[in-house]
Amino acid sequence: MNILITGGCGFIGTNFIYYMLHETDHDLINLDKLTYAGNLQNLTSVEERYGGKRYFFEKGDICDNSLVEKILHEYDIDMIVNFAAESHADKSINSPDQFIESNIHGAYNLLELSRKHKIKKFIQVSTDEVYGSLDSEGLFTEDCPLAPNTPYGASKASADLLCRSFFKSYDFPVIITRCSNNYGPFQFPEKLVPLTFLRAREDRSVPVYGDGSNIRDWIYVSDHCRGINLCLQKGRPGAIYHFGGNAEYQNLDVIKKILDVMGKSHKLIKFVKDRPGHDHRYAMDYSLAADELGFEPGVRFTEGLELTINWYLKNEQWVDGVKSKEYSDFMESWYR
Ligand code: NAD
Ligand code: TYD
Repeated sequence: MNILITGGCGFIGTNFIYYMLHETDHDLINLDKLTYAGNLQNLTSVEERYGGKRYFFEKGDICDNSLVEKILHEYDIDMIVNFAAESHADKSINSPDQFIESNIHGAYNLLELSRKHKIKKFIQVSTDEVYGSLDSEGLFTEDCPLAPNTPYGASKASADLLCRSFFKSYDFPVIITRCSNNYGPFQFPEKLVPLTFLRAREDRSVPVYGDGSNIRDWIYVSDHCRGINLCLQKGRPGAIYHFGGNAEYQNLDVIKKILDVMGKSHKLIKFVKDRPGHDHRYAMDYSLAADELGFEPGVRFTEGLELTINWYLKNEQWVDGVKSKEYSDFMESWYR
């Protein structure tokens, strides 16, 4: 099969490409615009080993109608996994425009051209953030109302609704996956885990929003990748599947765990102003994915965190490379 992976130079897309090349014999075509979050160097070894054989890179925008049409046709694409998106909730609060463009318009462009091209399966990689926030009890189920609280969450929810409409109106074989917070190798250091690592590595303060009591469910990225491949193999068109890590932690505890693994002092922790509309808690009921796909998370949080920190420690050159100007300007303005 020929699989189009969009956003393959980002965090999860990169991990998915490694996973699929290792675990399957599919050919992979990676379409990525290379925004600040996309990093071609993530895939240097893939390019060396598989480039022009089982792996092909196309630089471009999922909103570009003629480019996407050309790719679907020239590579005779069978299935699509859409990772491409602006993915940073904080950034969406400051400047939502690009989120609307890539996450909604881009998804629509892919859906419409895929429908015409009679794609066999389309996976829309979505997020638990479409549901908004939970109180201290309960889990998100697939039939919870969509109630996003950030422009990022709203843009992903909008794309999910477009997917639903394509299934209902055209019988288009689309599957939506909604996953909790990922962590692991290759994550851009605007997100909590790599940001904490990166700042602590330089003995700089580590920002905690509000009082640090907000709760996220953490899934190791390879577990998410396995879940998506299960959808490609046996996911039911029209279904929504949840993936979670069974690992709920308060942000303050996550930060303390990272500092402990690194042997750094908790004195680095600095409480900063809270994110506006900060969702209190995310947690996933993934029993449908367990029943229909056989999905279970395999990596425990402590183990995954050690794997992640060790990967960052071993890949100093990668870490230094991603400390781009855009990243530091944005972060410094946020924490001032
Ligand atoms: P990321 O920001 O690390 O990577 C996004 C990638 O998409 C980048 O390579 C970027 O260059 C590319 N991209 C952005 N806009 C594009 C466009 N218009 N055309 C082509 N390429 C474009 O994001 P991530 O963390 O890897 O997330 C991937 C997907 O998974 C997103 O759709 C996100 O909503 C979803 N998701 C992420 C998490 C998480 O914890 N990171 C959790 C659940 C769902
Ligand atoms: P983040 O990694 O941005 O993911 P999301 O907002 O999509 O869940 O943030 C995870 C949690 O950590 C979230 O509750 C916000 C909080 N946070 C901090 O406390 N400090 C930080 O520096 C960052 C980036 C996030």
